[in-house]
Amino acid sequence: MSELPAVVPEDGLPPRVTIYEVGPRDGLQNESAIVPTEVKAEFIRRLVDAGLPFVEATSFVSPTWVPQLADAAELMRMLGETGREMPVLVPNERGLDRALELGVQCIAAFASATETFAKRNLNQSLEGQFVMYEPVIRRARDAGLAVRAYVSMCFGDPWEGRVPIEQVVAVGKGLLDLGAGQLSLGDTIGVGTAGHVTALVRAFEDAGVARDRLALHFHDTYGQALTNTYAGLRAGITTFDASAGGLGGCPYAKSATGNLATEDLVWFLTGLGIRHGVDLPKLLDTSVWMSGQLGRPSPSAVVRALSGRV
Ligand code: HMG
Ligand code: MG
Repeated sequence: MSELPAVVPEDGLPPRVTIYEVGPRDGLQNESAIVPTEVKAEFIRRLVDAGLPFVEATSFVSPTWVPQLADAAELMRMLGETGREMPVLVPNERGLDRALELGVQCIAAFASATETFAKRNLNQSLEGQFVMYEPVIRRARDAGLAVRAYVSMCFGDPWEGRVPIEQVVAVGKGLLDLGAGQLSLGDTIGVGTAGHVTALVRAFEDAGVARDRLALHFHDTYGQALTNTYAGLRAGITTFDASAGGLGGCPYAKSATGNLATEDLVWFLTGLGIRHGVDLPKLLDTSVWMSGQLGRPSPSAVVRALSGRV
């Protein structure tokens, strides 16, 4: 069987999409068995080699909160000189200092659209997270770093339920006002559906945020990640986060499962004739190798189909 779908373009969609790979960070942060640093480094190198333009490498967070990523500094040293194509998560000034020491060129801040998750993920209130991030983003920008910012729980929250769109827009605008260059809207627990995606993108546009400053970050808990991606594409979004093999979940959000699998996204974009620059066979080999390292099969439908597991 061919390893690529038939290419049948559709009018009204962007010609090119940027895939922002989060597997080494979002994918691995929830793994309870510690993955050796050399394996993480090889995973990242292979993803870069497969053509992924951005590979989020790790997080400079508290090792008590996320033990899996306690080796962040060692990993970045192992990777050698990195550029803006290898962002790291940073929650506070302590995290920024650690990243700056290692010559990191791009950081990602991560805030919450809801009070409860801000407390559970950052030990901050909704307002407190801005106080924490103000010096982080200012100092990072002053040092010439690129800054991305996430908003979590944009489509629903396991403790608070529905999340008003205006609340998401207010948090997102707040992060842009602090100096973030790109905003990634996270469906942390995967409860979003297509109309909700369209409405959220439109609400940001109505608030004066250009579509090219937005990225979409879907988890696939309810199998909606690709449909939601399609809604995002139709709304003009051109950056999508995904995780090789569909690894992932957030240790501080119950019911958060894996991200949209990068292979599923690549297959879908390829079929639409949308350029993405990723070599699917190389990516597939990487995910099959990684699932061997983790000792369980990938949940990605495309990985299963192409590796003969269906
Ligand atoms: P805290 O306990 O309030 O912090 O946590 P603290 O300032 O009291 O510090 C506690 C200890 O951690 C101290 O050490 C600090 O030095 C240390 P001790 O004195 O006890 O030995 N510490 C640090 N160590 C290394 N690097 C640091 C750092 N900061 C403090 N940067 C804190 C507050 C923000 C640190 C904590 O809540 C934290 O690390 N949270 C991170 C949680 C996390 O990583 N969650 C997953 C990422 S978000 C996500 O997955 C969602 C996303 O994918 C989008 C989506 O899907 O929606 C992005
Ligand atoms: Mg996530």
